[in-house]
Amino acid sequence: MTTSTPALGLADTLKTQTQNAHTAAERHEFQGRVMRGMLGTAGYAAQMGQYYLAHKALIEALTKASANPHVAALIRPYHSYPQVFEADLKHFGIDPASVRPLPATQRIVAEMNAADPLTLLGFTYVAEGSTNGGKYIGQALRRALNAPGGEGLSSLDPHGEAQRERWHAFRGSLDQIALDDAGRQSLTAAADRYFAYVIELFDELSKAFPPNPANMPLTH
Ligand code: HEM
Repeated sequence: MTTSTPALGLADTLKTQTQNAHTAAERHEFQGRVMRGMLGTAGYAAQMGQYYLAHKALIEALTKASANPHVAALIRPYHSYPQVFEADLKHFGIDPASVRPLPATQRIVAEMNAADPLTLLGFTYVAEGSTNGGKYIGQALRRALNAPGGEGLSSLDPHGEAQRERWHAFRGSLDQIALDDAGRQSLTAAADRYFAYVIELFDELSKAFPPNPANMPLTH
């Protein structure tokens, strides 16, 4: 077992290491079209349905791993909110049980089912971290989808007023756990892998909702 002293805490390491992946996800053209309301509720609901399946699989895997001390130190009951997705899906007339995984989601769910606890925590870092931007996406969608009360948008901001506090608590707990180099490597590799999943998913959703050539910028 090798344990070196890293220059950054684990939370900052994860943030720094995934910065480029975050930019790629944030700027993905599918995400952009959803946020601008160009796909109406259909594109947003399709994305949410896939996040729902990934969330459910992650929570089930974390529950199975709950005896692991690192999982016990980081995961709180409020990190589990499949019912929030279910209510949002039903708002758009979608039966949650009818949502089928796209290939990217099938792959990440299979990985979750086989993952060690640190890998699960790396996935959780990205999924939970995304609630930071989710707040802003939700505000944009209130306007774009004409949902002034946030109807059907709750899964973007599942923690509401407690979001900052809970995210800081998660980051603080990450910094408290003692890991050797291999453990840090498992966690950071999993965060990269989850961002890769999100990009793959956006690529697949983009094919399912192809850009309308009439809305594309002119190239000449
Ligand atoms: C339009 C899309 C998005 C916007 C506008 C956005 C915006 C943001 C903002 C403002 C933060 C807070 C930064 C800070 O306080 O330091 C953040 C953090 C984060 N976002 Fe996003 N985001 C978007 C998409 C995503 C996606 C798709 C994912 C992955 C599923 C994601 C994962 C994360 C993570 C992991 C963090 C935490 C970074 C850290 O503090 O360690 N974001 N995002």
